[in-house]
Amino acid sequence: MNKLVIDGGMPMRGEITVQGAKNAVLPILAAAIISRGECVIHNCPRLRDVEKTSIVLTRLGCKLNRSEGTIYIDSTDINDCRIDEKLMREMRSSIIFLGAILSVFGKAEVGLPGGCPIGLRPIDLHIKALRQMGVRISEEHGYLNCECSHLVGADIHLDFPSVGATENIMLAAVKADGETVITNAAREPEIIDLANFLNKMGAQIRGAGSSIISIKGTERLHGAEYTVMPDRIVAQTYLIGAMMTDGELLLKGAEPSHMQAGLSVLTEMGGRIRRTQDGLHIKNNGKIRSINIIKTMPYPGFPTDAQSPFMALAAIAGGTSVFVENIFENRYRHVDELVRMGADIKVEGRSAVVRGVKKLYGANVETYELRGGAALILAAMAAEGRTQIAGIEFIDRGYEDIEGNLSRCGIKIHRVRF
Ligand code: EPZ
Repeated sequence: MNKLVIDGGMPMRGEITVQGAKNAVLPILAAAIISRGECVIHNCPRLRDVEKTSIVLTRLGCKLNRSEGTIYIDSTDINDCRIDEKLMREMRSSIIFLGAILSVFGKAEVGLPGGCPIGLRPIDLHIKALRQMGVRISEEHGYLNCECSHLVGADIHLDFPSVGATENIMLAAVKADGETVITNAAREPEIIDLANFLNKMGAQIRGAGSSIISIKGTERLHGAEYTVMPDRIVAQTYLIGAMMTDGELLLKGAEPSHMQAGLSVLTEMGGRIRRTQDGLHIKNNGKIRSINIIKTMPYPGFPTDAQSPFMALAAIAGGTSVFVENIFENRYRHVDELVRMGADIKVEGRSAVVRGVKKLYGANVETYELRGGAALILAAMAAEGRTQIAGIEFIDRGYEDIEGNLSRCGIKIHRVRF
């Protein structure tokens, strides 16, 4: 079990270049197989989830090379339509391969992804949509067996603007017969990034980023080169770190238009943020103010992935903040660990009431999921004394070289391998 050890109290000062977005690169890597050719993807972050996706691609018969931030994928000889349940359990977001594999083979056999620490993570919207496109789907022995003579375009209304379901439909629709129109589609920036990449491959997708997306099926797609967008959740995490430690940060490559909700809350809580020609600069005015209420919503509402990092900030704000987690049913597992560090937080159903305290104290804590782990790192940076964080394999899924980035900004953090 590896741990991160952090000695709090140091101001975070310096500059960080924002990594490529995890939730954009994963569907883009899956989409590459539809070309059955060569794709070059730049700005790929070094993350466990990217490594796992690369394993899936290799198992499907693709040839992969990585040099620095670029991944080269040759899917010419792709020859397998299966993803085994072990791999699916290790990374449930591999479910977005389903639409891509169906576009290539017209059939797929993937392990059921199952849930994760933050929620049950059902895929009923994915399955309902693919059935509308002519896919016959059965669930047997923990596998989804899918096949169709050919994918047909359909008018698909999503009961909830699911990111993954929107992505799977796009991936299945790009080579389907006729046009697919998704209404109540997810509007996240990562959807736009995926659409931009698919269009570079020759797809005909319009409306990505709005709640109505149309995809005209085309005969075939070809290889393409693409640069992944910056990670908006990692960016907000580092901005919060600068605020919590009374520091100052230049965040290079950040895209403010992707995080308007979070930037507005940071400003309300005392952050002084200004755009620079290559990103964002933040310095708070010494005081951190509480925020009346934060409700997580589908984009462009406040992002659920930023809920726990913002809760760490609220834990040391002057006043009381209320959080309402509307997206996932179990996304408060970081609360007990923050309380162990001296935070005053009460959870009641989907709501959490955070009464700011003057100081947090170092403690031995553990994370059980990615963004909660980021929140514990932020709290440890602001705390008095030493914190040891266990479960950092979850953090490595989404934050590239977090101890390197923070150390270079003056934070006393190191990884201990047990
Ligand atoms: C994506 O997950 C992200 N993951 C999540 O980021 C993010 O929190 C989420 O979108 C919301 O923005 C990736 O992109 C790899 P959803 P996804 O389908 O696609 C319900 C992180 O920390 N739902 O929009 O799984 C579901 O239960 C991760 O980087 C159904 O009911 O999210 C949830 O309540 C965590 N049926 C809600 O929709 C379905 O078929 C949002 O899920 C699908 C989803």
